[in-house]
Amino acid sequence: MSSEQGSVIVRIAAQRPNNTCSGAVLCYNFRLMTDQRLKILSRRFIDYVNTFRDSSGELIPMLQLKLTHTKRVVQNARRIMQGERWQGPSLLEGELCALLHDIGRFSQFTEFGTFRDSESVDHALRGVEIIQKLDILEGVPAPAAQRIIESVQWHNKKALPAEMESSAAALAHLVRDADKLDIFKVMIEAVKDGSIETNPEITWGLSIKGAPNPEVVNAVIKGKPVDYSQIHALSDFILIQVGWVINGFHYRTALQITGERKVVEFHHKYLNTLTASPAIDLCCDAAYTALRSV
Ligand SMILES: [Fe+2]
Repeated sequence: MSSEQGSVIVRIAAQRPNNTCSGAVLCYNFRLMTDQRLKILSRRFIDYVNTFRDSSGELIPMLQLKLTHTKRVVQNARRIMQGERWQGPSLLEGELCALLHDIGRFSQFTEFGTFRDSESVDHALRGVEIIQKLDILEGVPAPAAQRIIESVQWHNKKALPAEMESSAAALAHLVRDADKLDIFKVMIEAVKDGSIETNPEITWGLSIKGAPNPEVVNAVIKGKPVDYSQIHALSDFILIQVGWVINGFHYRTALQITGERKVVEFHHKYLNTLTASPAIDLCCDAAYTALRSV
């Protein structure tokens, strides 16, 4: 399509915002509308985050961390959607889920001074409350808004409810996978800059050195979820991430990205500095096997 044709179509599209898609021109119109809608909705999110800035326009470091995390989760979600060949309105919904999934973190940290849900509030439920109270999804068709809200609500739970409608579950899985990919990155950066051993907020104040809990090792190897009460040492915490590689991702693309980023190699090396337990090689070898399957 030439740029002249494009500009004519844009003008036609702008004049017909309510038409349904029945041909090339109107399909372009739909795309234009979704792009505009995404811009408006992203603006609402940014406006909300801006309310937490101080008089010099800065966010405190822990909130800046969450904003940066959110942007990277959006990028991860885009890559997964591309790899999984999502199309049409699903792309917009997926992007919104990623953008809004941690919106509850800002007031959680401001009110309670922690990101630990068990010591404050369930940040996913807090997020749902904010989205609804501020009507952030205003203008999004009701069924899509419902799916997005459900994906935010369930993004941090151990598992999704069996009765969750499949298109809502697809979104929730997308956010959960994109979130995990960035949690890998946060961990790797924290190891590299040393903050993992100096900032207890990142790793819940766990003891740094020491062998992993055999119950955690057992669950990781079997690809089962780990009960957070079983986490005693930093090695348990990191092994949970190795466990995600074994059986924690829904989308094949997310596993492929994990392989590209050499996450297991990094975690393996770091774990070996924390403990000489043979369980480390056992778990990491299972993760390498999972990566070779994609
Ligand atoms: Fe979250």
